[in-house]
Parts: sequence; C-alpha cells; structure tokens
Amino acid sequence: MKRIISAVALTLFTAGTTFAVSDVISLPAKNGNVAFPHSKHMEVKQSKGCKACHDMETGGKIAGLGKDWAHKTCKGCHEEMKKGPVKCGDCHKK
Ligand code: HEC
Ligand code: HEC
Ligand code: HEC
Repeated sequence: MKRIISAVALTLFTAGTTFAVSDVISLPAKNGNVAFPHSKHMEVKQSKGCKACHDMETGGKIAGLGKDWAHKTCKGCHEEMKKGPVKCGDCHKK
C-alpha cells in the first residue's frame, strides 16, 4: 500500500514540476558557468530517479550544491553511465 501511494505521489509531482522547473538551469562558476539541462536529466534512466541528485522525490534546492558535490555527482554519473560530459570545458563554458 505504501508503495502504491508513493508511486502516485511521484507521478503527480513529476507532472506538476514540468512547468515549475526551468528546462536549463545555469549553475554559476568562476571558471565558466555550467548550463545544466534539467528536464533532460529528469528522463535519465537510472535506479535512483530524482534522488540521484535530490534528497527527496519532489526535488527543490540542493543544499550541498558546489564544486565537490557537482564533480562527484555530475561527473561521477557521466563516468559510470559512459554518457554525458566529463571534460572541464564540456561543462564549464566561458
Ligand atoms: C542530475 C541531477 C538532477 C536530477 C536527476 C533531478 N534534478 Fe531537479 N535539480 C537539479 C539541480 C542541480 C537543481 C538546481 C538546485 C539549486 O539551485 O539548488 C534542480 C532543481 C530542481 C527544482 C527547482 C528548485 C527551485 O527552487 O528552483 C525542482 C522542483 C526539481 N529540481 C525537481 C526535480 C524532480 C521532481 C526530479 C525527478 C523527476 C529531478 N528534479 C531530477 C538536479 C537534478
Ligand atoms: C559534469 C560537469 C562538470 C565537469 C566535467 C567539470 N565541472 Fe567543475 N563544476 C561543475 C558544477 C556543476 C560546479 C558547481 C557550480 C555551482 O556551484 O554553481 C562546478 C564547480 C567548479 C569549480 C568552482 C567554481 C567556483 O566558482 O567556485 C571549479 C574551480 C571547477 N568546477 C573546475 C573544474 C575543472 C578544472 C574541471 C576538469 C578537471 C571540471 N570543473 C569539470 C560541473 C563540472
Ligand atoms: C544519474 C546520472 C547523471 C547525473 C547525476 C548527472 N548527469 Fe548529466 N547526463 C547524464 C546522461 C545519461 C547524459 C546523456 C543524455 C543524452 O545524451 O541523452 C547527460 C548529459 C549531460 C550534458 C550534455 C547534454 C547534451 O545536451 O548533450 C550536460 C551538460 C550534463 N549532463 C550536465 C550535468 C550536470 C551539470 C550534472 C550535475 C548537476 C549532471 N549532468 C548530473 C547523466 C547524469
């Protein structure tokens, strides 16, 4: 029963945030901002879903967002999936 409820909740939240979250989020960095295609990542097929980056299925602000978090989370997944940029200049654009 619990599982059914969370599945329904996830569907609702996913539908609800389609309009709330920008398609591409600019993550500022001194060595070149990173244009992060959020909606594309919402469709990435991996086991953790939104929790690959967020603490909760509903998403929201990421408290630990910064260099260490990003390089571990973003680059880590790209390396693991052998997809997505891993070179500095492919993420950081001046
Ligand atoms: C690959 C990483 C990643 C995945 C997967 C991901 N997000 Fe995000 N999301 C982010 C980042 C990074 C931000 C910007 C966070 C910030 O500014 O603190 C964000 C922002 C958001 C925001 C807006 C927060 C705000 O206040 O502007 C919402 C809502 C959100 N995500 C929901 C979701 C949902 C729902 C899913 C799953 C369907 C999801 N996200 C999957 C990385 C991700
Ligand atoms: C997968 C994308 C990605 C790759 C590849 C990547 N970075 Fe980053 N980097 C980020 C993100 C996202 C942030 C955090 C931006 C934020 O906190 O707003 C960041 C933050 C940084 C910061 C801190 C900037 C500041 O203003 O404090 C430095 C320095 C940095 N990266 C250097 C590098 C170098 C050098 C490489 C290559 C060895 C690299 N990055 C590769 C995504 C990436
Ligand atoms: C759970 C795994 C995962 C995480 C975490 C993740 N990515 Fe990705 N990323 C992917 C995959 C898979 C692709 C390739 C998508 C495609 O080609 O359809 C990708 C592609 C990209 C691209 C290239 C998009 C394009 O249009 O070619 C950028 C830029 C990117 N990611 C930045 C980031 C940043 C910045 C973060 C952290 C905030 C991040 N990614 C976190 C899996 C991930």
